[in-house]
Amino acid sequence: MRLADSFRSERFGAVRIHELQRVIELDSGMSAGAGSRIVAPDELHAVESQMVIVVPCMNEARGVIEGVLSGIPHDCLIVLVSNSDRAPVDRYEIEAQTVEQFCRLAGRSAITVHQRDPGVAGAFKAAGMSELIDDGGLVRSGKGEAMLIGMALAAMTGRRHLGYVDADNYVPGSVHEYCKVYAAGLHLADSPYAMVRISWHSKPKLRDGRLFFSRRGRSSEITNEWLNRFLAEYSGFGTEVIATGNAGEHAMTLDLGLKLRLAGGFAVEPYEYLDLFEQFGGVLESTSADVMANSVPVLQIETRNPHFHDNKGEEHVQGMRMQALNVLYHSPVTLPSVRQAIVDFMVEQGALGIGQEPPKERLYPPVGTLDLDLLYDALDAEALSFRQPDGRVAAGLSAAPPIDRAAIPRRVA
Ligand code: GDD
Repeated sequence: MRLADSFRSERFGAVRIHELQRVIELDSGMSAGAGSRIVAPDELHAVESQMVIVVPCMNEARGVIEGVLSGIPHDCLIVLVSNSDRAPVDRYEIEAQTVEQFCRLAGRSAITVHQRDPGVAGAFKAAGMSELIDDGGLVRSGKGEAMLIGMALAAMTGRRHLGYVDADNYVPGSVHEYCKVYAAGLHLADSPYAMVRISWHSKPKLRDGRLFFSRRGRSSEITNEWLNRFLAEYSGFGTEVIATGNAGEHAMTLDLGLKLRLAGGFAVEPYEYLDLFEQFGGVLESTSADVMANSVPVLQIETRNPHFHDNKGEEHVQGMRMQALNVLYHSPVTLPSVRQAIVDFMVEQGALGIGQEPPKERLYPPVGTLDLDLLYDALDAEALSFRQPDGRVAAGLSAAPPIDRAAIPRRVA
């Protein structure tokens, strides 16, 4: 893979945000080019074989899920975290069978689990994260919550990298490109604490009978503008450096991920930026001297494939925008002038009444604080939806379940 060089970056404490860089060639060969960097197949492979791809999934079509699975490089481990209906039809069972069949055909293994399985709630409670549980005693619904479960499972495998891919992507080739970009970006970042965020090239829409390739997402536009305003207020210089505030497709080293506090629902992606600023921005005291000494590169990469996914409507998009603004408003590192401007904007949008304060989003402790041994034992014993299909056995190879109980890493944060 060949990526355009990233010449400029902006710093916020130890966080180094690189300007958007483009994919130049999906398959680069080995020849050097001016202004670009190649990542060779063996370098991509080295990262992929250490990468877990988490697929959050809620009531997506089986055929679409199959396409997504087919796009994830063979050596990445797939973790599907579902919040799909269990009745009247048990859609999770269909998804788990789809993954199991895929693993058999492809000779690979995976993990699947249902977010609202009572055994999953019990396991997270036992492992030290009761914040995740709702009044009904189950893990809360929400994409951020699914991502947190996926991160915890990834941590148990001992792999070093983690990426997220939505289950509603109609184009397997774009899923493939995202995963390759994760690997290329993490290789180039060459840091134990790195993040790679995707900005897709375009989103196709039908307009008056014609295909229109829209360049920006309706939610990202707003989120990016406000995150950039957050930075500009500190530096005194206007900036457009953040292009991936809402990036659902993103990856990171687990060393970084396990230190992050994740937000619930769709606040999760914008809050990743804020948590980086809160923990490593140098405004508040950091508890991670090692990260502060290393710096945290955030690579933002524009991919080539169109992002073609299920359109869930204007209300859904508006909800996403407001969740981003809620976390920005409540961050202790957001300056008062920006907070006031957010309130004014939300009132103008009709999302807030005069004199009201934006609601707080749910924030969870870092996954690194969990006791992973307890989590695994409780999942294994109580969570009926927790499966580790191993297609290698079906292919006559020796069993290789993704999680080895004896080798689960210790608590890290
Ligand atoms: N397990 C689980 N639990 N999965 C969920 C949940 C949940 O509560 N809610 C949504 N998902 C899954 C969906 O099935 C889909 O695969 C993925 O998460 C994204 O959810 P969508 O509802 O399809 O979101 P979107 O496509 O509008 O937004 C996506 O792109 C935004 C940036 O443009 C998401 O990835 C956002 O997080 C992102 O900000």
